[in-house]
Amino acid sequence: MVNKPLVLMTHDLPADWTGTSLDEYRIINGDNNQRGIDKILKGYLPEASGIICLLDDPIPTEIINLAPNLKVISNVAVGTDNIDVKSCTNLGIPVGHTPGVLTDGTADLTVALLLSVSRQLAAASQDARDGKWSSWEPTGWLGRDLKDATVGIIGLGKIGSAVAERLKPFGCKLIFNNRSPLPDREISLNARQVDLDELLSSSDFICLHIPLTPNTKDLIGKEEFKKMKPNAIIINAARGPVINTDALLQALQTNQILAAGLDVTDPEPLPPDHPLYQLPNCFITPHIGSATVNTRRVMAGIAIRNLEAGIQGRPLPYCVNPEVYDLP
Ligand code: DGY
Repeated sequence: MVNKPLVLMTHDLPADWTGTSLDEYRIINGDNNQRGIDKILKGYLPEASGIICLLDDPIPTEIINLAPNLKVISNVAVGTDNIDVKSCTNLGIPVGHTPGVLTDGTADLTVALLLSVSRQLAAASQDARDGKWSSWEPTGWLGRDLKDATVGIIGLGKIGSAVAERLKPFGCKLIFNNRSPLPDREISLNARQVDLDELLSSSDFICLHIPLTPNTKDLIGKEEFKKMKPNAIIINAARGPVINTDALLQALQTNQILAAGLDVTDPEPLPPDHPLYQLPNCFITPHIGSATVNTRRVMAGIAIRNLEAGIQGRPLPYCVNPEVYDLP
């Protein structure tokens, strides 16, 4: 009998999402409550052909080096900042991810965050539950209009563009900052490309849609908050560490900016006693940008296709380091 290739899964995925393809492999599941390659999985690394992991599973070089037979790492996420991709590339290991499919879900969530924060939905709903809705209050629960507001989008990739598309009908002025010039999108989105300083100082709403890299870590820190308007609302549905958490806390505590809506944080998960939870001007959701039934199902399907391709020695349908295929 031919031995089935060994695949390590850091977290279970529903069987109706993964289909029957995984039957071809010997699967070892990690402990769902531990992140990364836990104690159970570690012992299997020398024999492993594939790893399926989630965005909060760190896969550093030391782990990769313990798996000499590894043919693929398949992340159930578009972002791969949890994996040392450079080491994988050096070793010729392709890394799979799930781009595109979560664009709409994440863009929807970004707009939901933006509206929730600007219209104080969390506080208003809580007050209603707490019996504080005693009359129609002319000055109660006042929010900010999106119409005529300036929305600055940092990173106009797939998700940033989808957010801009969704915001256009609200009648806001759109500006964006992006690494490369995007003249076509300036026209199609009726948006102006500006430098970061101008975006920070003229936006009423700032939405972040950039990947986490060494260049974007702490992109928004103390100096950047100083440049923002006092009524600025910052929305982060990208990666927590692109905003420096201490600087954010200070900016919110001192009302240097108006509010924040965060679907991602640093650290993640944010511990229950974190001071950000105490702030009435900070609205936090637990990294749910892609959390729709359909999106998560499709993400799982792509991750399985990437895994299969890697194990069978075919190019991954969605590979973050296609350079591996050029290696001698
Ligand atoms: C990703 O896939 O990187 C997203 O953050 C998941 O929501």
